[in-house]
Amino acid sequence: MSEYNQLLEFAKGLARQAGNIQLSYFRDKNLSISTKQNDFDIVTAADKASEQIISGGIRTAYPTHSILSEESGLSQTNDSEYQWVIDPLDGTTNFSAGLPLFNVSIGLKHKGETVVGVVFAPYLNEMFTAIKGRGAFLNGKPIHASDETLLSHSVIATGFPYDKAVNKDNNLDNLEAVLPKVRGLRRLGSAALDISYVAAGFLDGFWELALHEWDVCAATLIAGEAGAIVESLRPDRIISIVVAPEGIFGQLRSLLAPTPQNH
Ligand code: IPD
Ligand code: CA
Ligand code: CA
Repeated sequence: MSEYNQLLEFAKGLARQAGNIQLSYFRDKNLSISTKQNDFDIVTAADKASEQIISGGIRTAYPTHSILSEESGLSQTNDSEYQWVIDPLDGTTNFSAGLPLFNVSIGLKHKGETVVGVVFAPYLNEMFTAIKGRGAFLNGKPIHASDETLLSHSVIATGFPYDKAVNKDNNLDNLEAVLPKVRGLRRLGSAALDISYVAAGFLDGFWELALHEWDVCAATLIAGEAGAIVESLRPDRIISIVVAPEGIFGQLRSLLAPTPQNH
């Protein structure tokens, strides 16, 4: 087995362990919800327990590797060429509301390039995986972005930033432009799953402003390997991206404001 293959299998094992923790809390245990930047940005006991099992597993198996994880930030080692990028629970608002769209997202960078990606939705038992240059898979079967070419036949997803109440640059301008042009517009509430669903052809496109590296690291590798185009929408709003198959990308991209409007 190649080195990246071993690392992928290792990451899948960690994702399943974290997923089991999440399922043990879901719609059941007390989540001990606390807020972060504001009332809309929350963390639960399940986020923390998931992060602990993933980071602990990496530290034991690969003590020289660096880790960037949403709840604990960056823990850098001196000499490692490897950095894990982890969202222990992506879709916490869904999770805490009892909605089943949430996932564990684990990416691995080697010398700055993402080489392994795992997005695992435990309630749905959907395991999206990719290794750089070797295609993308859902539960072991190859996946491909959709071959849709008509925007009017497309189903597109987006999301809204946590500072939506205080910053008018909250994606409503883009929503207004895209809504009348597409068959369906969705807000699923889990960026890594949105992007993985573009990879699998279940969605025909996705864009969102102000995401973070842990939201997109694993999923954008998966989408790229499935043939989708992944591009930065604008450089001034943390990570703002558009992900879509070739036949839709240009049409969607042209509707999205490259810079903020109307404020
Ligand atoms: C969030 C989800 C959501 C997106 C937010 C993300 P979290 O991640 O992916 O869909 O709209 O921007 O921060 O906070 O649940 O890990
Ligand atoms: Ca996230
Ligand atoms: Ca998270």
